[in-house]
Amino acid sequence: MNGRKQSLWGTRFGFYLAAIGSAFGLGNLWRFPYVTVESGGGAFVLLYVFFALAVGLPLLIGELTLGKLTRRSVISACQRLAVDESISRSPRSKDIKGASSWVWFGRISVICCLFVLSYYAVISGWVLHFLMQFFVGQLKTGTFEVDQSLSILRENGLLQIALMSVHLLITLVIVVKGVQEGIEKWVGNVMPVFIVLLVVLVTKSLSLPTATDALRFMFYPDFTKLTVFSPLFALGHVMFTLSIGLGTMVTFGSYLNERTRIPAAGFRVTTMDTLISLFAGLLIFPLLIGCGFTTTGPELLFQTLPRLLIDIDSGFLFGMAFFICLYLAALGASIGLLESVVANLLDFTKLSRAKAAWLTGACATAIGIMPALSTTTLRNVNFRGHGLLEILDALLIDVVLPLSALGIAYLMARKLKRDKAEAEFLNDESVATQTLYSHWFFVIKWLAPILILGSLGLALLGILGLA
Ligand code: PHE
Repeated sequence: MNGRKQSLWGTRFGFYLAAIGSAFGLGNLWRFPYVTVESGGGAFVLLYVFFALAVGLPLLIGELTLGKLTRRSVISACQRLAVDESISRSPRSKDIKGASSWVWFGRISVICCLFVLSYYAVISGWVLHFLMQFFVGQLKTGTFEVDQSLSILRENGLLQIALMSVHLLITLVIVVKGVQEGIEKWVGNVMPVFIVLLVVLVTKSLSLPTATDALRFMFYPDFTKLTVFSPLFALGHVMFTLSIGLGTMVTFGSYLNERTRIPAAGFRVTTMDTLISLFAGLLIFPLLIGCGFTTTGPELLFQTLPRLLIDIDSGFLFGMAFFICLYLAALGASIGLLESVVANLLDFTKLSRAKAAWLTGACATAIGIMPALSTTTLRNVNFRGHGLLEILDALLIDVVLPLSALGIAYLMARKLKRDKAEAEFLNDESVATQTLYSHWFFVIKWLAPILILGSLGLALLGILGLA
């Protein structure tokens, strides 16, 4: 018995908006710039685009297919697929029991999703803080003190907890309303505003004198700048930015209507998200180069951008627009994360949507207290100079997501019945779609796992000092 009434997207466009809204978030605007600076500039960007198309896109298609075919979220979708397959092979109870262990795989994905939601909410709280500081500071004194704003935040753990809770509350209110009324309507209203703001900001940024240097930094690949960790960082970032590995896209796939062709949907979401990341780079790098890349890490964006924003013509408006954009992006992605956990709860319990959302929100707030205190009470918890927030980021994104993607790839390649998967690809029996299916199957069975294992292995050699 479960509390989930089968929800569907109202329109196909609504699905695109919500999926792109979930994919496009802090990962593109906040994380992409500092990971690119730390991991090799233009060469890293190339690696990122390559992984997005070679690994991200096939996996995204895999997650959406899993959701659409089972009409369930990740835990019961994995279970169904594995159990159905073993029943059709041999109805022995031992095999069925073995297949049910996939439930654990799903459960771990959902727990990780909860952790990512909490850590994500802390950073979204920072964005809220800067948005308010920018606005209030400007109104009161006509200026905005970046260092002061950052230190207020760094030194006040309670403030970080409060901001994180406010952000989770806003996300919760939207998710409680449901798929069509809440998520689809809200993201549908906000996305166009967001795209317009982004275009205005990029145009402004590209008119700065540092624009040519920024273009060279982003698109001229100097492979000597790559490290043994760069492939893993690129891979982890692709998973994170495309919202793969935590079951979010399985949930979104389960709301798709019969007629939607998944390969085309996956392709559109991947290319849109990758383009928006590159677009975000065009917005941010001219500004960062202006300050000579003096800092990096999670604070990079907050430390450098506002300082530069207020120095340029109409900087106040430019700054406000930027932080509004950043917050809308963070909210869209948080909605995807929260919805994914809620949908799993609805699959397995009799809870109402509202109760499931409140329960998830409460757990996320409790978990989020740890990263929110990483610059105060828990500042001594660190590894090789990296604080708790960065450790959590690295563990979740660079290790857990690729491992989880490996599980999804295995499940899709070995357990999904060929005729069912093929039906998602074949369109009027055209030869082209038949070829597309064979390519996808090859990538999901061999190429993606080899690239993921290769990147993990390389990073391990790096940690052991052997590469
Ligand atoms: N894709 C989002 C971003 O780039 C983060 C996210 C990850 C959202 C996983 C949902 C699931 O910010």
